[in-house]
Amino acid sequence: MTVQDTTLQNFNISTFQEDLLSWYYANKRDLPWRKDHDPYKVWVSEIMLQQTKVDTVIPYFHNFLEKFPTLYDLATADEQEVLKAWEGLGYYSRARNLQHAVREVVENYGGKVPDNPKELEGLKGIGSYTKGAILSIAFNQPEPAVDGNVMRVFSRVLNIDDDIAQAKTKKLFESVTREVISHEDPSSFNQAIMDLGATICTPKSPACLICPVQQHCQAFELGVEQQLPIKTKANKNKKLSYAALLIKNHQGEVAIEQRPEDGLLANLWQFPMVPLQDITTDLIESWFYSQYGMEIRLGQKQGKLKHVFSHLTWYLEIFEAELLRDIQPTNKVILVGEDELESYPFPVSHQKMMQFL
Ligand code: ADE
Repeated sequence: MTVQDTTLQNFNISTFQEDLLSWYYANKRDLPWRKDHDPYKVWVSEIMLQQTKVDTVIPYFHNFLEKFPTLYDLATADEQEVLKAWEGLGYYSRARNLQHAVREVVENYGGKVPDNPKELEGLKGIGSYTKGAILSIAFNQPEPAVDGNVMRVFSRVLNIDDDIAQAKTKKLFESVTREVISHEDPSSFNQAIMDLGATICTPKSPACLICPVQQHCQAFELGVEQQLPIKTKANKNKKLSYAALLIKNHQGEVAIEQRPEDGLLANLWQFPMVPLQDITTDLIESWFYSQYGMEIRLGQKQGKLKHVFSHLTWYLEIFEAELLRDIQPTNKVILVGEDELESYPFPVSHQKMMQFL
């Protein structure tokens, strides 16, 4: 007997499906990516929804599809335009990978999103969750789409206390979902679990009293729903301090630079940053000259900002500065008028800095 067999002993799969689906048909959230089953739109929505709340995604989804209504529009767009449409949503590699992947679809699959697991998982940025979401929601195939919300729901319903931070636990939930998913309407089944996780089976204080699958829930029966799921803590975030510089020349133009094409916030633009691990504030001017070949005079500190990423936190001290000689800046840095800044994609922390200009 496998783990999921023991987990599913005494679990009535068909009445669970019925209770869940009738609740979903009556209560499903009216979301823009649910208007049709266009695989391109499902794909875009699922990438945006990774690590990001539905309410945040909705306006971005509308705007993105207005700018790139078809897969071809996205494939042929300029990457900077795509990053601009993603500005503020975070995890920008999602946007770059998505564009890379739709280009692969145009080149290798005639512009049609593949409807099978092998080809889908070969595309950049598509992991097991997104693959399952596209196959089930767009193509109505009974495939699991397991993310943190789905693991929370099933860990409670089936009283599973495995650590959801571990990869093998996700595999267990995928096997469980394969057993439990509706074959009549897999698209609605997966979306119903997502809605249940978002609106009723929430992380804190789940609304068990109005839950459509309360009679099936082992955690509710045992009164342990608040203790589940089990998740070990991730490592503590790294903290990084920088001086972020609002450098202007005598014409009032502002210095900005593009970030490297790999790593955090790849290819986005920013105001120059000086790492304060390495130096103290009195050395900023000379450090800047040594790295950028530009002579600046540091002015007043304007404020500070903190920005938390998934794995590290930035502490930014914001200084104004003057470009002393109107030299031709190095290839790293360009000077632009304040009114031109909005045409470049900036991370949120640097957008916030613009208030100090
Ligand atoms: N979260 C992730 N995917 C979702 C979807 N398709 N609908 C609602 N919430 C989601």
